[in-house]
Amino acid sequence: MRIQLIKPVLIILFCSTSLQATEITRGVMLSNSCAACHGTDGKSPGAIPSIYGKTSEFVSQALMDFREGKRPASVMGRHASGYSDEEIQMIAEYFSSLP
Ligand code: HEC
Repeated sequence: MRIQLIKPVLIILFCSTSLQATEITRGVMLSNSCAACHGTDGKSPGAIPSIYGKTSEFVSQALMDFREGKRPASVMGRHASGYSDEEIQMIAEYFSSLP
């Protein structure tokens, strides 16, 4: 009797945690493409600005502005045009979640 009640709860718990894990993995994968220019974890070794330590609001707003041409850019306009709103959100959350 007890086990029958617990089962659905466990299934729901399992599904929600694996969904979260998938979202995080996608954010990590998308953010890997930024490392080529912005450095590992967004810590830039050179003249390109660092993204490390920026808030998710800053990163998502910057990417949307680059994408829409509202922010002057040499390469970021073209780069940002490849991402959907949802992907921008995942990238922004990844960078803001770094310790
Ligand atoms: C080809 C190199 C390159 C890649 C790849 C790249 N960036 Fe950039 N990024 C730049 C440059 C250069 C700038 C300065 C603005 C410009 O000239 O486009 C910049 C500026 C930015 C800024 C504004 C920083 C500030 O302080 O003003 C953000 C945020 C940013 N990039 C995020 C990203 C993210 C997130 C990715 C990955 C999805 C990414 N960039 C991939 C080169 C790159």
